[in-house]
Amino acid sequence: MLTDRIGRITPSATLVMTAKAAELRAAGKPVINLSVGEPDFPTPENIRNAGKRAIDEGHTRYTPEGGTLELKKAVVKKLSRDNDLHYDTSQILISCGGKHSLYNACQALFQSGDEVIIFSPYWVSFPDFVSVTGAKPIFVNTDPARQFEPVMDDLKAKITSRTKGIIINSPSNPTGGVWSDEAVLKVLEIAETAGVWVFSDECYEQLTYDRTYISTAMLGENTEKVLTFQSCSKTYAMTGWRIGYTAGDEKVIKAMGKLQGQSTSCPSSIAQVAAIEALIGDQSEVTIMRNVFKKRRDYIVTRLNEMNGVHCDTPGGAFYVFPDFSSYMGDDRNIQSSNDLSMYLLEQKAVVTVAGKAFGSDGNVRFSYAASDEDLARAMDLVEETLKELE
Ligand SMILES: Cc1ncc(COP(=O)(O)O)c(C=O)c1O
Repeated sequence: MLTDRIGRITPSATLVMTAKAAELRAAGKPVINLSVGEPDFPTPENIRNAGKRAIDEGHTRYTPEGGTLELKKAVVKKLSRDNDLHYDTSQILISCGGKHSLYNACQALFQSGDEVIIFSPYWVSFPDFVSVTGAKPIFVNTDPARQFEPVMDDLKAKITSRTKGIIINSPSNPTGGVWSDEAVLKVLEIAETAGVWVFSDECYEQLTYDRTYISTAMLGENTEKVLTFQSCSKTYAMTGWRIGYTAGDEKVIKAMGKLQGQSTSCPSSIAQVAAIEALIGDQSEVTIMRNVFKKRRDYIVTRLNEMNGVHCDTPGGAFYVFPDFSSYMGDDRNIQSSNDLSMYLLEQKAVVTVAGKAFGSDGNVRFSYAASDEDLARAMDLVEETLKELE
């Protein structure tokens, strides 16, 4: 009955775990949810107020399909202020979150017969975005000891005449890895030689802890084929407001807008007004949240590395760690895979995580540290206890 297209989509593993956590909580269990992909902070007050004002002032109607000119101008300002990127408003598209932006771009550029490079471990949605277009995701290995930067020889070997695009996501979900400028440049050079599009998913660009983030399109010389994707979700704790944006080639932006016009009409008018305040209003909350995340990152990495047989390199950004638990897994053991370990933690300790398998790496488990200090400390105690039980 249903189309092949739908058959090519797998449900988001992270959303599945979030639903499981809600089920346990409803059953009265003291759940600690470290599976979430969103900041645990409220949206800053100035942004909330802008949203309330938007309703009272009547910004409650359809807007142009690709977003209001005022918000596009705010995006242009933001990209110039934070990323030294200079675009015209005709090169900007506002969508219902970064996920929607990436989905639209894949629909506009990829189709059956194309191949698209994705670096593994990858955000769960990338392969689905690509597969649903009929194109084929091609996975390239990365080096966990170097912030999960690409293994360049593997990348070169996997580029073919069918390659149409490369998706970069630094800082990364699920690893938190932040690539060096040299690694990004190398990928840009390889992409340019092959004449392929580069998608730079920068939704965690404001969450880097050891150095200032440099946008991909800032690094290369010829970046006409680089599309930059950013979002209000993680930077401003606005996941539910659903505002993301794309900057790049005008023709691609127009095509994405056309698709959007016939699918969602436009992003929420109210959220668009709030996003203007987020992007060009007071930015001090962003620094406050970044500092809190950095402290938590340092804590969780230390705790994990103190556990016998666990290895966790320090990720440079986002709010995830992706430790290696493979020494606890094996065909002849109770725990054979990351799914088993993640389920054990859920069912025995009520700690919700996401198995690495969903991200293409079965020896690992993803922990989000978008959680309170108390929850993180308790969760780490419970993981330690679990590993002792499994030794
Ligand atoms: C790597 C990555 N890209 C994009 C997104 C999309 O976020 P949003 O649609 O809320 O902007 C997410 C959200 O989890 C993400 O982790």
